Amino acid sequence: MCGIVGYIGKRQALPIVIEGLKRLEYRGYDSAGVALWDGKKLQDERAAGRISVLEGNLQRKSWAGNLAIAHTRWATHGKPSEANAHPQSDCTKGIEVVHNGIIENHAELREALIREGHKFVSDTDTEVISHLIERAFLVNAKEKILLEHAVLDGLRHVTGTFGIAVISKHDPRKLVAARRGSPLILGIGKDEFMVSSDVSAIVEHTRKVVYLHDDELAVLTPQGYEILGFNKKTISKPLNTIDWDVVSAQKGGYPHFMKKEIFEGPETLENAFRGRLLEAGKGGLVKLGGIEEIKNKLLTVRRILVVACGTSYYAGLVGKYFFENFSRIPCSVEHASEFRYSNPVLEKNTLVIAISQSGETADTLEALRDAKKRGALAIGIVNVVGSTIARESDAGVYNHAGPEIGVASTKAFLSQLGVLALLAMLLGKEKEAVSEVMLQKFSAELKSLPVKIKKILAMDEKIRKLAEKYLKYDNFLFLGRKYQYPVALEGALKLKEISYKYAEGLAAGEMKHGPIALVDEDMPCIVLAPKDSVYEKMLSNIEEIKARGGKILAVATEGDERIAKLADDVIYIPHTMEEAAPFLSVVPLQLFAYHTSDLLGLDVDKPRNLAKSVTVE
Ligand code: G6P
Repeated sequence: MCGIVGYIGKRQALPIVIEGLKRLEYRGYDSAGVALWDGKKLQDERAAGRISVLEGNLQRKSWAGNLAIAHTRWATHGKPSEANAHPQSDCTKGIEVVHNGIIENHAELREALIREGHKFVSDTDTEVISHLIERAFLVNAKEKILLEHAVLDGLRHVTGTFGIAVISKHDPRKLVAARRGSPLILGIGKDEFMVSSDVSAIVEHTRKVVYLHDDELAVLTPQGYEILGFNKKTISKPLNTIDWDVVSAQKGGYPHFMKKEIFEGPETLENAFRGRLLEAGKGGLVKLGGIEEIKNKLLTVRRILVVACGTSYYAGLVGKYFFENFSRIPCSVEHASEFRYSNPVLEKNTLVIAISQSGETADTLEALRDAKKRGALAIGIVNVVGSTIARESDAGVYNHAGPEIGVASTKAFLSQLGVLALLAMLLGKEKEAVSEVMLQKFSAELKSLPVKIKKILAMDEKIRKLAEKYLKYDNFLFLGRKYQYPVALEGALKLKEISYKYAEGLAAGEMKHGPIALVDEDMPCIVLAPKDSVYEKMLSNIEEIKARGGKILAVATEGDERIAKLADDVIYIPHTMEEAAPFLSVVPLQLFAYHTSDLLGLDVDKPRNLAKSVTVE
């Protein structure tokens, strides 16, 4: 949830870790802090609020030094405050720890440490780690143990999840990092090394990285790095090269990451389809390299279960229609957070698909692990290469959507729909559950989507004006049926996430069972009514709402004049197949939410109380 960055090398460490923190701010941003070894002593500084507040505090003294760790926090234990910001130190301020994750037994550990005389100054679970390391140094005072051994000794007592970076005056020319359940990546430069919870903080300095796995610890010095297992044995690990550059992780001229990412939609789909959606006659229609090796097992699949959270979950709901329509395999979609606690019945031949942009969402990861434990075949649809879900799946398909920085997910959703469609086509073809003609038609339609999305993006100004018109309303209903139902849910989520307006997505057929009671002139309804098999039913919904004085903003197929007569406002999308319509109808809803938030002067990319990657339960 939070972001970690650390540096050791020849350059000044402070500007590097602060810049890194800014790139990580999207992971959580209620407080931040830094600790630095200046060659003689440890210095630290913390601040509640954004990194800019921390930067202001740092002006007060000199921060020369080549070793530093820093953290941006999204509170889990203890309110966002200066005292609760990381780094957290021990009694003598000789150890500094930054931590992502949750220490589950922190209360017992804290009590025990207090009984031994340790003094705590924060409400965080993290502080116990600093005191446990301090205790390891105290107990082994005569032998002068190494920092990495003190850290391992401390971590022995801990249950829960952690990605930590530690520096200490007791063994000062090194940076120690360790992980269990929270991502950590090492950046390998020339005479300099970094650690971060995310590649975006590292990529400006080096593309060579080592992924730390669970129960591994890294020791970084200016001369090199070593990785140890928690059993203290050296582990040799491959060096990976990342292909994201810093420019692609920046805004590229757009006012916000979210807008940039919405406008990257067409390219994102092209990237998802490239080399996978083949020309007719070239040995099959769909090729997904990541699942080649389990293709035979896929043929035995009798049931599909999708687990995901947030926007990825809604993509999964569209996926259900794809799977059932094209491959005739029954599919259910579950919130990963519920699946974990449901004692699920996973029959033999169940395929579990975990969908996650970040590949680090704790609930999705645990659902995946649980499914694997129960013997299911598990694949991941993940954007971040090398992320934990990607690594722990039996096989998977990457989105190749590039970094998504805006907290509200947009281009990743399109990409997830793209990959789900390909997977459903592949299964359908292998199982001969769908006609070749239908597959060819759908394939051609998928290829046409980037151009069609560009047409919608060209209506950006019009959509901004509509957002302005509807800005005075505080509550919204989003209605859809069949393929458009998940889009309604996603449209409502986008609006509430970034504009803080109340928005509810509904299956339009459910209106008469309760929600229609909400309709009056202050409750606009955003109705998804492209020309599809449930179009007439949607028109009836619109009539019912109008009859009760409701306002309608419709998303409809271009040329549809009947809708124009009924609705107060219409956003037209290009004509497409019913199965492909979610790719188009979601785009105006993303833009509508974006402009609503921007017009209200809100922080579009960093909405309050939210974080991009939720690595806690
Ligand atoms: C957070 C983000 C959402 C995202 C969800 C799932 O809640 O704010 O935008 O949809 O996590 O994230 P994932 O990385 O697993 O797709």
